[in-house]
Amino acid sequence: MKEWVIEGNKVLNGEIKVEGSKNALLAIIPACIITKSIVKLTNVTPLFDTYVLIDILKELNVKVIYDNKSEMIIDSRNVINKDLISEKMKKIRASYYFMGALLSLFKNVKILGPGGCKFASRPIDLHLFAFEGLGCECRKEDNIYFFNKGKIKCRVIKFKKVSVGATVNAILASCRMRGNIKLINVALEPEIDDLIKFLNLCGANICRENNNIIVKGVSQLHGCEYKIMEDRIEAGTYLILGACTCNSLKIIYHEHENLIALIELMKKMNVNIKVDKDFLIVNRAESISDSNVVFDSYPSLATDLQQPLSILLTRSKSYSVLKDLVYPTRYTQLSDLNAMGFNMKVNEDCLYIYNSNKLTGKNVECKDLRGGVSLVIAGLISDKTTIVSNVNHIERGYFDIVNKLKKIGARIYEKDI
Ligand code: EPU
Repeated sequence: MKEWVIEGNKVLNGEIKVEGSKNALLAIIPACIITKSIVKLTNVTPLFDTYVLIDILKELNVKVIYDNKSEMIIDSRNVINKDLISEKMKKIRASYYFMGALLSLFKNVKILGPGGCKFASRPIDLHLFAFEGLGCECRKEDNIYFFNKGKIKCRVIKFKKVSVGATVNAILASCRMRGNIKLINVALEPEIDDLIKFLNLCGANICRENNNIIVKGVSQLHGCEYKIMEDRIEAGTYLILGACTCNSLKIIYHEHENLIALIELMKKMNVNIKVDKDFLIVNRAESISDSNVVFDSYPSLATDLQQPLSILLTRSKSYSVLKDLVYPTRYTQLSDLNAMGFNMKVNEDCLYIYNSNKLTGKNVECKDLRGGVSLVIAGLISDKTTIVSNVNHIERGYFDIVNKLKKIGARIYEKDI
């Protein structure tokens, strides 16, 4: 167990590099088994979830060579259909992508339900709806899902709600089915485009058509070499952190088109941001304009940036209001922040964030990834010392964050407890 000690109220300065995307990687690693070939992935980020997926691959007789930095070779030529029912499936959310990946290869699949950050109820009914449409009957006993693949029932799968995970699973399960399948009301997130790009490079035939996805089934995929996209949520978090606490922060990030909603919003709030094709530069904003901010599926503002952005909104002249349409109760950090002197209140699914400038460090506890990183930003802008416990949550999405922050001048130390 570790905790981080943050000596706050120091203006930071420097440069931070963004890693490969966590959420793109978590979909692409399971997708590799569909190729039954050798895939080389680059720009891989060594996160907790990455290693759990490697462990699951090994159970399926898939060989993995990973340099623990950015290159990973996945050899699934001898992949087997093994029941995935060990407890490790519950360690992360993305383990459920093996449902779609295995169903694209095998008729009967047995798999334990997923885990993941518990900031809200996170059902998987939309995944099961897609599988059933694709002809995969499902039965659940003690959190174990039993799938049995029969004849396809519908060639048009229309989701009643947009879901990143269900869109990914529907693509994985259908990419090797005979004929065309149309997915309607799908997620438009760039991480899904990264998965589609990867699968197409492996021989799949998947495209976006208007806001739908058309999967033209192919009988077989093959290996490839693929570079994972950059992590737009990590980039966005550092952009927010920079506006909270950095004289000038240069963020090495090349895919700013994926971050347009945040950049535009922050500029509108009077944050100074320079956008270049290879980087972003942001300066500390003493005060921002009062704002009404809504988070929704892409291309709207990402819900994963909601908790970090709430810290910047405390610089509002009077108050700002925030509403998260994807996870309306994703406010795990509130009581800790308010104990530090923030003034945030929930009212009818909206978070009211009042100007607060007398912030004092406290002992706080991280309950999930994005709430956790917002506690770190809060610690950096508060007087005195903040001690953040349960930091393993943060490390799941922000590789090497302590060293990255130290390099820009933060006084943050890791302590084993
Ligand atoms: N939903 C359902 N039924 C389902 C699936 C989802 O009702 O079967 C609901 C959810 O409860 C939520 C909404 O649909 O209200 C959207 O959830 P979605 O399925 O899109 O989320 P997810 O696939 O479980 C991914 C990311 C999350 C990110 C969300 C939203 C991964 C591994 N996770 O989760 O990332 O918050 O999309 O963009 O890609 C994070 O990185 O911190 C994180 C939690």
